[in-house]
Amino acid sequence: MGIAITCFAFILLVQHCIIINAKSVPKFPAILIFGDSTVDTGNNNYISTIFQGNHRPYGENFPGRIPTGRFSDGKLVPDFLASMLGIKEYIPPFLQPDLSNNDLLTGVSFASAGSGYDDLTTTASKVIPMSDQIKYFEQYIQNLQLIIGEEKAQKLVSRALIVISAGTNDFIFNFYDIPTRRHQYNITGYQDFLQSLLQNFVEDLYNLGCRNMLVAGLPPVGCLPIQITAKSPFMRKCIKEENFDAQSYNVKLATLLKQIQDALLGSNIVYSDSYHPFMHMINHPKKYDVVVVALAHMKQVHSVTNIILSAKMLLNTCFGTVYILVNRPTNIFPI
Ligand SMILES: *[C@@H]1O[C@H](CO)[C@@H](O)[C@H](O)[C@H]1NC(C)=O
Repeated sequence: MGIAITCFAFILLVQHCIIINAKSVPKFPAILIFGDSTVDTGNNNYISTIFQGNHRPYGENFPGRIPTGRFSDGKLVPDFLASMLGIKEYIPPFLQPDLSNNDLLTGVSFASAGSGYDDLTTTASKVIPMSDQIKYFEQYIQNLQLIIGEEKAQKLVSRALIVISAGTNDFIFNFYDIPTRRHQYNITGYQDFLQSLLQNFVEDLYNLGCRNMLVAGLPPVGCLPIQITAKSPFMRKCIKEENFDAQSYNVKLATLLKQIQDALLGSNIVYSDSYHPFMHMINHPKKYDVVVVALAHMKQVHSVTNIILSAKMLLNTCFGTVYILVNRPTNIFPI
């Protein structure tokens, strides 16, 4: 069975806090990342946009307390993943100008905070659309070819683990809060539209040689601080309909990915559940020993999401108790 499947199981083990034995960890030579702020390790530092994570309070728990551009207090999920897979500790952004050959050979992130599958999402935010992330990836492959030759570059890409995480911004900035696409589609229609774009994206990657892909579904969108602030500023309750929509999107996505995998020879394309682990933390904070005190200030909204996801990854690997405190707790994340 596919390598990516093993990896997926690896992420899911979490709930039970099973310590993974080294043998079960698949050997990926590199990790390549596409998507939005959940997985952007700093590309937006090199473009002109207001979506920047290179200032405080980001990075407060990063070594050296450096705000690297990650929308998190510390590492992001892909960093933890790379570390757990024994690849490296941090995934650099592709746009970083001083990347070494080794940085390139073990993988980079092409993701851009604020991005989405729908190009309309990035028109306003001026961040890197998913379609341009593919163009950077093509450039990356050329770089690899210069370092190790065409054949080895091809092999590396085919054996690499690809992580794709996007979609939330499309719903928030094109459907729920700014209803541009709502004039054109109902929720079902917009979900299908996004998933057709996602399918094209996966097929483009396949055609460029990628074989092992992990595609994240949506988190509970209605529990993101940005949505709670927009729709339930005083009660501070999760927006049920948006969570319901996210779940139906995820069910469709899991089915679609299976179909794509069956259609693309030699591919391992796996759905990764971002919804239930997140929801479980919100509903059972005591089980996690996690204290999440967060600002719902625009700048920190992403930070909170990522902190929770990052904490989840930490907890998953039994590293122990994690306390998360974001300064200036004027709004409490409703847990
Ligand atoms: C959404 O729109 C499609 C047509 O574009 C229609 O067939 C479907 O019934 C609509 N769904 C809902 C829930 O309104």
